[in-house]
This record gives sequence, structure tokens and C-alpha cells, in this order.
Amino acid sequence: MDINSIRQKYLDFFSKRGHAIIPSTSLVPEGDATTLFTSAGMQPMMPYLLGEKHPLGNRVVDSQKCFRSQDIEEVGDNRHTTFFEMLGNWSLGDYFKNEQLDWFYTFLTDPKEGLGINPNKLYVSVFSGGNGVEKDSEAVVIWQKLFAQHGIDAKEDERIFSYPAKKNWWSRAGTPDQMPTGEPGGPDSEVFYDFGPDENLHQKSIWKDEPCHPNCDCGRYLEIGNSVFMQYIKQPDGSLSELPAKNIDFGGGLTRLAAAINNDSDVFNTSAFSSLIKSISKITGKSYEDDANKPPMRIIADHLTAATFLINDGVIPSNKAQGYVLRRLLRRAAVKHYFLTGSREGLGELSTLAGSVMDIYQGVYFDKSNRDQIIQTISGELDKFSKSLDRGIKELNKNQDIDGKGAFDLYQNYGFPLEITLEILSQFGKKINLDQFKTEFEKHQILSRTSSAGMFKGGLADHSDTVTAYHTATHLLHSALRRIVGNHVQQKGSNITAERLRFDFSCEEKLSDVEIQKIEADINSSIIGNFPVTRTEMPKDEALNSGALAFFGQKYPDTVSVYTIGDDKKTISKEFCGGPHVTNTGKLAKIKVVKQESLGSGVRRLYLQFVK
Ligand code: ALA
Repeated sequence: MDINSIRQKYLDFFSKRGHAIIPSTSLVPEGDATTLFTSAGMQPMMPYLLGEKHPLGNRVVDSQKCFRSQDIEEVGDNRHTTFFEMLGNWSLGDYFKNEQLDWFYTFLTDPKEGLGINPNKLYVSVFSGGNGVEKDSEAVVIWQKLFAQHGIDAKEDERIFSYPAKKNWWSRAGTPDQMPTGEPGGPDSEVFYDFGPDENLHQKSIWKDEPCHPNCDCGRYLEIGNSVFMQYIKQPDGSLSELPAKNIDFGGGLTRLAAAINNDSDVFNTSAFSSLIKSISKITGKSYEDDANKPPMRIIADHLTAATFLINDGVIPSNKAQGYVLRRLLRRAAVKHYFLTGSREGLGELSTLAGSVMDIYQGVYFDKSNRDQIIQTISGELDKFSKSLDRGIKELNKNQDIDGKGAFDLYQNYGFPLEITLEILSQFGKKINLDQFKTEFEKHQILSRTSSAGMFKGGLADHSDTVTAYHTATHLLHSALRRIVGNHVQQKGSNITAERLRFDFSCEEKLSDVEIQKIEADINSSIIGNFPVTRTEMPKDEALNSGALAFFGQKYPDTVSVYTIGDDKKTISKEFCGGPHVTNTGKLAKIKVVKQESLGSGVRRLYLQFVK
């Protein structure tokens, strides 16, 4: 079964059980400055998990594009990828544990409605208790009933395992003690697929010469789904209290489910990657059968997939934030190619993989109109790096005893980020003093804006008042631009921190000083006008007919949430948006445009700040 049919089966299964199907949001979160990427399906669902009413009701299902930069180093084994799709079904204060475990089990095992996986191959884990929360014995009983349907006597420590918070608790921040005040979370229950012998779990693992268990990292067991019972919220005194409405947050990796169906533990043999591996084999002349080639070929396949998706979501290679991660993915893929083939010859051909990625997900995530631009962005970036790579590696070949200063020179002269230098040196079997590197890089303030910045670890969204106010300012700016520059202006992206608002939009010409003054005046008069900001839910077509602005290329559900700024007499702005916003424009301070930049190819960027 290919990934497109598994995704469809899952959406259909939950749609039949009263869930509204919602589209994936972008990999780059809107209006959330503390997280670079969407890394879990629940991230865009946060407002609803905290109690805001979802326009489509209290049961929704989706497949969310996710990117985990913190997993970059793990890619190369049989199961880790930076990009993946997370299947998710959500109960927003509706059904709970019984229905969730029953439905997921049925989805996995039912041959007609579900995936028809042999239940003997499934093992589960539950929360063993801690932080004032009891062991999840309820889940144990439910699992025992479910397995009994197939005549399986699911004993604890044989088929059902309990683990502490480190393994069986989920929140964005991690274990209960790591959760900040106001953060929701709860115990969870994971399902694992066993690629090894199933007759007797305690027999010696074929993967490792010792007894093994679901949470062992040897690769024999693969986690294929996690049901989070999101029923707690962290209190200021450090304790956990029950959420007024209990939620279900389920997440399952699409390619991992495909691997389980294949009964092949290598996710790179699923339809998400197999054609890419074939092409990489052609480009490099190397065989995937050879175990030594597997990690670099997997890294190339994953990184090119992730790069294709990131560019499609508006990321451009650069030295900052999301753009830097994209650059690092492509450079790392280039290094792997170099060491597989021994030269930079054929490196540019890796960009053709983007075409295959778009074919694999055709009709789901990619629009034909972006195709050439995505391939060109990748080939341009690889070409630029190719010469430096060759020269830099020759340099490193000559002299592998480099210190912090040497690493910095490589960065300056050849564009080798620290991680790439480390990567290349490790190919030579060399390790170096990391602290010395860091000191040198910190001197030049490079680390602060690249990979070691805290953002990469996947922080928490900032829902402060200032951030919300900037979000409303985004709508005012968007409408001001269309009034003053023209209706051809389209928002391409936005990013908000507590310090400023950044806004990208399509526009060929640099804005003149007069235009900028007019834009500021337009926004500030809306602020002084003290207009109400209201949210309405309506059918998508009605919203479009009413002139509400939707994001070009974005798929919307049948019922949408629309924010309107204005009163009976005057509508200032009307946009498809999930919020949150201030209730009244009078809550905003006066605004100023502080910078204008060109991002090339008809896209411009403005920075705005509230004047204190
Ligand atoms: N939010 C849960 C996860 O990401 C489902 O694993």
C-alpha cells in the first residue's frame, strides 16, 4: 500500500466516525516567532486544545506536514527523517480513551476499513505513573479487551509495557516538570510494530544479542502511533490540574505505518522514498544493497525531500533561521554525495530529486506552477556550494589539524557551517575541540543566528499580548498595502516576534518613501479609529464571495474562520485566519515601518515595529 492510499484510508476511517477533514498547515508556523517549524500535528491545534471552539466541530482529522531539525543527526538509520507527515485525529473535549484506543486498534488491524496489520505484531506502552498522576491502568484494561478480540492474551510486561513520564507523557515541552505554566499535556499510549520474531518477546533479539523491549533503540520495534490523553494543564504552583475539557491528540507517522504494512523496517523502502533511492543510486553509481551506502543515501533522500517541502512553503536558502536550516540540509546532502562518489561531479543532478518528490506527493501538496522554481532554487544552491565544497575539502585533506580559527576561516572562505566542517572531519575519522570552535564562532556572533540558537530545539509559542497585537497589525498592513500599492499585492509570509513584525509580499518595485508614509498613515488611522476585530465562521464559498482574502495556493476546509476589522460603516480588512487577535484596534500602539528588503524574484519584505 502506498503512502497516498494509507493517508486516504485514515482520513476516510475517521471521517466516517464524525471527524471533519482539515488540510495540513504550512511547515513554517504563522505568527509564532519562537518555533521555526511545525514539528507536531498538535502545534497548529493549540488554541483548540486550550478550549477555543474549532469552526468544524469537536472531532477533526488531518495529515500534518512536520519538520524536525533536532533530528538531523539521527537521519541515516532505518526510521528517522527530518520531514514526515503526521496523521492526526483530535477529540476537542469530545470522546476519550475508550474510543481512541478502539478506533486506532481497529484502523491498524481491520483488513477492510483499515490496514490489516497482524495484531500479533503489535505491542503497546502506557504511563506507569508519577507527578501526582496514577498509572494508566484504564488503558491497560482497554488494550487487553482489544487484543482479546483476536484471541491474544495481552499480559503486562509481555505485550503491554508501562514506562515513566520520560517515555509515556506528552507535551510540547516534554515531561511534567519541564512544562511551563498554562501548558497542556498528559499521559500517552504508544503502539509499536515488531519487525522481529513474535512468538516470544523474551527470546534473544535478532537485532541485538540481548533481550529487547518496545522502547529499545535497536530498531526492532518501531513506534507507529501515539495517543495522547491531553487532560492536564500546568499550574503556576507547579502542580497539574485537569483541563475543563479532556482532549485526544493522536499522532502517527505515515511512512512508519507504510513500513509496518511492508513488514520491512526500512522506511526508505516505502513509496515515500523508494523512487528517490533508485535515482540516487543512478546519480552516484552506488548500490543501496551495500550497508555502508545506506546512511548517506538515506540522508540525501530525506534532506532533498525536506528541502522540496520547505521551499514549497516559502523558505529561501539564507544564513538565518528557516533559510539557514534549508541551506544546511542541501549542503549536508552535497557533502554526502561528495563522499559517496569522491567528487563534485553530478552533484547538480540531485536537484532532479525534487521533481520526483513532487511526483510522489502529486495533487496533495504541490501545485504545478511552483515546480520549476523549486527545482531551480535547489540547483542554484547546490551549484553555488559545489566549487567551495571541492576547494574546502581539498584544504581539509591537506590539513586536518584545524582549530577554532581554522573552522571559522572555512566558514568565511568556503561557506562551511560548523556542522559541515565537523561532518567532513568525521569522514576523516577526526574529532576536534568543540568548545574552541564555539568560542571562535561566538566571537563572530554566528552561533546566535544559526544552528545552536535555542529556536532549533523547538520552543514554545509566544501568545503574549504584543505578539497578538502584531498579528492584528499584520492584517492592517496587508490591507493597507493593497489599498496603496495595488490589489495585485499578495501576502507571501509573515513572522512575528515580541519585538517586530516581518511581512513578505509579492511586488516588483521597491516601495517609495511616499508609499511607506502612506502605509504607516493608513495603519495608524485604523488604530486611532478604534475599530472592532470580529471573528465569524462561514462556508468557504460564502467567505470568498464576501471578498475575504485567502492565502493563494492554500487549501481550506468547507467551513472557515474569518477575521474582520471594521464596523457597520467601514470594513478595513477581511481575511481567512485562525487568530488569535486583539478585540479592538485601539489596543495597538502606533506603528512604524523600520526596514524594507528585497528577497528577489518579485518578493519584498517589510519590518514593522510598535513605537513605544
Ligand atoms: N503530539 C503527539 C506527538 O507528537 C501525538 O507524538
